[in-house]
Amino acid sequence: MGGGIRFIILLFLVLLQFLDISVALPLCTDSRAPYAPNYRGAFCAYNETTCCNYAKNMKLKQKFFSMNVSDTDCASLLKSILCARCDPFSAELFRIGSVPREVPVLCNSTVSQDSTQSLQSTNDFCSKVWNTCQNVSIVNSPFSAALQGRAGIPTNSSSTKLTNLWQSQSDFCDALGGASDDGMACFAGEPVTLNSTGIPSPTNGMCLEKIGNGSYINMVAHPDGSNRALFSNQQGVIWLATIPDEGSGGILELETSPFLDLTDEVHFDTEFGLLGIAFHPKFMENGRFFASFSCDKANGPNCDGRCACNSDVNCDPAKLSPDSGAEPCRYQSVIAEFTVNGSASQPSMASRANPSEVRRIFTMGLPFTAHHGGQILFGPNDGYLYFMMGDGGGMADPYNFSQNKRSLLGKIMRFDIDKTPSSDEVNDLDLWGNYSIPVDNPYANVKGLAKEIWAMGFRNPWRCCFDSIRPSYFLCADVGQDQYEEVNLITKEGNYGWRVYEGPYLFSPSQSPGGNTTPSSIKAIFPVMGYNRSDVNTNEGSASITGGYFYRSTTDPCMYGKYLYADLYGGAIWVGSENPINSGKFVSSRISFNCAHDTPVNCSFSPESSLPALSYIFSFGEDNNKDVYLLTNSGVYRIVRASRCNYTCAKETTLPSPGPDSSPRSEAGFYRDPYSTFVMLTSLLCLVFINYYALL
Ligand SMILES: *[C@@H]1O[C@H](CO)[C@@H](O)[C@H](O)[C@H]1NC(C)=O
Ligand SMILES: *[C@@H]1O[C@H](CO)[C@@H](O)[C@H](O)[C@H]1NC(C)=O
Ligand SMILES: *[C@@H]1O[C@H](CO)[C@@H](O)[C@H](O)[C@H]1NC(C)=O
Ligand SMILES: *[C@@H]1O[C@H](CO)[C@@H](O)[C@H](O)[C@H]1NC(C)=O
Ligand SMILES: *[C@@H]1O[C@H](CO)[C@@H](O)[C@H](O)[C@H]1NC(C)=O
Ligand SMILES: *[C@@H]1O[C@H](CO)[C@@H](O)[C@H](O)[C@H]1NC(C)=O
Ligand SMILES: *[C@@H]1O[C@H](CO)[C@@H](O)[C@H](O)[C@H]1NC(C)=O
Ligand SMILES: *[C@@H]1O[C@H](CO)[C@@H](O)[C@H](O)[C@H]1NC(C)=O
Ligand SMILES: *[C@@H]1O[C@H](CO)[C@@H](O)[C@H](O)[C@H]1NC(C)=O
Ligand SMILES: *[C@@H]1O[C@H](CO)[C@@H](O)[C@H](O)[C@H]1NC(C)=O
Ligand SMILES: *[C@@H]1O[C@H](CO)[C@@H](O)[C@H](O)[C@H]1NC(C)=O
Ligand SMILES: *[C@@H]1O[C@H](CO)[C@@H](O)[C@H](O)[C@H]1NC(C)=O
Repeated sequence: MGGGIRFIILLFLVLLQFLDISVALPLCTDSRAPYAPNYRGAFCAYNETTCCNYAKNMKLKQKFFSMNVSDTDCASLLKSILCARCDPFSAELFRIGSVPREVPVLCNSTVSQDSTQSLQSTNDFCSKVWNTCQNVSIVNSPFSAALQGRAGIPTNSSSTKLTNLWQSQSDFCDALGGASDDGMACFAGEPVTLNSTGIPSPTNGMCLEKIGNGSYINMVAHPDGSNRALFSNQQGVIWLATIPDEGSGGILELETSPFLDLTDEVHFDTEFGLLGIAFHPKFMENGRFFASFSCDKANGPNCDGRCACNSDVNCDPAKLSPDSGAEPCRYQSVIAEFTVNGSASQPSMASRANPSEVRRIFTMGLPFTAHHGGQILFGPNDGYLYFMMGDGGGMADPYNFSQNKRSLLGKIMRFDIDKTPSSDEVNDLDLWGNYSIPVDNPYANVKGLAKEIWAMGFRNPWRCCFDSIRPSYFLCADVGQDQYEEVNLITKEGNYGWRVYEGPYLFSPSQSPGGNTTPSSIKAIFPVMGYNRSDVNTNEGSASITGGYFYRSTTDPCMYGKYLYADLYGGAIWVGSENPINSGKFVSSRISFNCAHDTPVNCSFSPESSLPALSYIFSFGEDNNKDVYLLTNSGVYRIVRASRCNYTCAKETTLPSPGPDSSPRSEAGFYRDPYSTFVMLTSLLCLVFINYYALL
């Protein structure tokens, strides 16, 4: 993560807008980022960004004419409905992730049902469709397709009217209507536009309570929905623990013996160790559990995968000089499966896993000793296993692995671990272990490219999350080299730029044996948040981002909906606010933080620094209550009610805890509000006093 002399070309974001780039969000129904239309005169005229290429447009055009709709008003509504597929918000309009829809969610009146007038109102698009089209014959109606599988519904080949399918407007809108809400947009006949919420809702400070002294780098909530979670340390021990209620004064209670102890297998060093843990989405039924860790080939035959430096990627292990002096690919990245079967009558009752590995999912030799991510997450929508992998180290990705689609380095991978491949498939597909390739992975059918890839162009993705209320929001922080620490919104086949770009800036490596990637040859997606490394002054003279979560708890309602991230070195935490909601546009600002006066475990303050001694912020965690935790070298901290630190959050007083509706929607942005500066100064003063009294 260190420094080094590099030639950096600074290019301001303004200039970048002239390049042909993709945007991060909104999302298309296939989870890709929308793009600028690449031809003119499209059937579906989305002129800025779209989800439809030429072929998709032609298909929609055909579909439209095959409907043979005589009524022009209805035809124009139907065209807009078909073309909603091309809307850059199509993923939301079609609610991807739930049951696939044939027609988008049609904006419904949000006014009460008995008010007939409101149902006729012009922004009630669903009623407008019903009123305009109810008696119109539609061949191959997309509406009947929406009902396929239900009893008594005419088949799609015939010509149908809406009145054949639904009794009344309210039946129709029950089935297809929906409101625009905090999570999703609905379709009202026009390309989706989002309102800027405008009113800043200041968050003047984040209050932390310390609930344990342990140093962990992973936390995963128990799938049984209880107040339990697993905590693991970098050395390789996983503990099951019970989390105390907020404000109860309780501390984290670990089970007496570990859930799983992998220290014998795990290679532990600065960037090596037990790096990720995950419950199978159906853990409650199948008891399956996964761990991602580093191993040392010298430790036995269980650590002997193919080397990521190989001839497929123009890398000769014999010529590689690893930074550690050790042989190339001595250290490896592993994903292994375990089970709790046999240790309890049901998986939820288990307090230990069986220590013997059930199945080796993945093993890959690493070229150097740094940047190999390691987090594993199951996608909430698709149930596939996502695996974050860095560029493998060596300054400035010397072999250009991150941009190489044959390499798994610098990538986010996506595996199907529920389908076991035959050994033929393992060989034919050049797999790195025992997993299958999801059919919709971007290169699943492209010969020669790595079929595991979901997204690319990362340096060292250090902590990703799926927003718990909007699973299409997959955010990853990516550690920078010299200039910029970034947060990316991950989309299918997205290229996040490294080492053509570092954050928004063009990057020029001082050495690149084996070629370079030109900026014009890729469609880089730029970060949605981030900070300049020069903005953090740490004792180490360094910076390294740690990605967090979208805060979805009601414990601190002023924090609701904001994305949290931090610098590893413990001195700085940011909150990112999206405005408008669902736009993928964020503004972030540093937030001051302090220790609750009634913290169960004392938060110590370091005399040299103005801030609580958080030490290294390794990771964040989220429990079943959606409360967010900081996992640091000095212990486990929970974000609690602001008032416990004498910060003010006006919404906190409205007890019982407010729901998402009354959540703050935005904040002012790139400025540091005067109040938080005031609070910070006050806490500084308090520190001075505390130190003063300590001396007496
Ligand atoms: C996009 O099209 C709309 C009309 O469909 C028009 O009002 C708008 O100016 C166009 N924008 C650009 C950038 O061409
Ligand atoms: C389209 O509708 C017209 C009547 O509006 C009818 O004469 C014609 O046969 C229809 N075409 C098809 C292909 O169904
Ligand atoms: C549709 O048909 C029904 C009954 O046949 C009639 O009451 C209604 O007015 C018609 N609607 C339109 C828009 O023509
Ligand atoms: C309904 O449409 C689908 C695809 O458009 C087609 O495969 C199927 O054969 C159609 N069903 C009937 C009964 O025509
Ligand atoms: C849409 O409005 C109808 C009343 O017309 C109502 O019954 C239905 O629940 C609404 N649907 C949704 C998803 O809000
Ligand atoms: C945006 O604001 C306008 C005017 O305040 C309102 O009519 C419209 O419904 C809003 N749109 C959304 C998507 O919230
Ligand atoms: C945490 O560490 C502090 C200081 O070493 C100690 O006083 C305290 O008892 C510890 N608390 C727990 C819960 O382990
Ligand atoms: C664990 O038990 C469940 C049934 O309780 C079974 O479905 C699953 O296959 C078992 N897993 C292993 C690894 O034996
Ligand atoms: C993959 O794992 C399954 C389940 O443990 C096992 O039955 C199968 O033999 C393994 N396949 C290969 C190719 O190793
Ligand atoms: C770097 O990536 C580009 C593809 O973008 C490729 O042309 C070049 O050969 C790569 N270099 C190496 C060493 O793989
Ligand atoms: C980083 O620094 C550049 C140049 O000083 C500045 O333009 C940019 O706004 C900074 N970015 C952030 C996120 O602070
Ligand atoms: C916080 O507020 C409480 C109650 O108003 C007060 O007793 C306490 O001294 C305050 N603490 C600090 C650090 O200002």
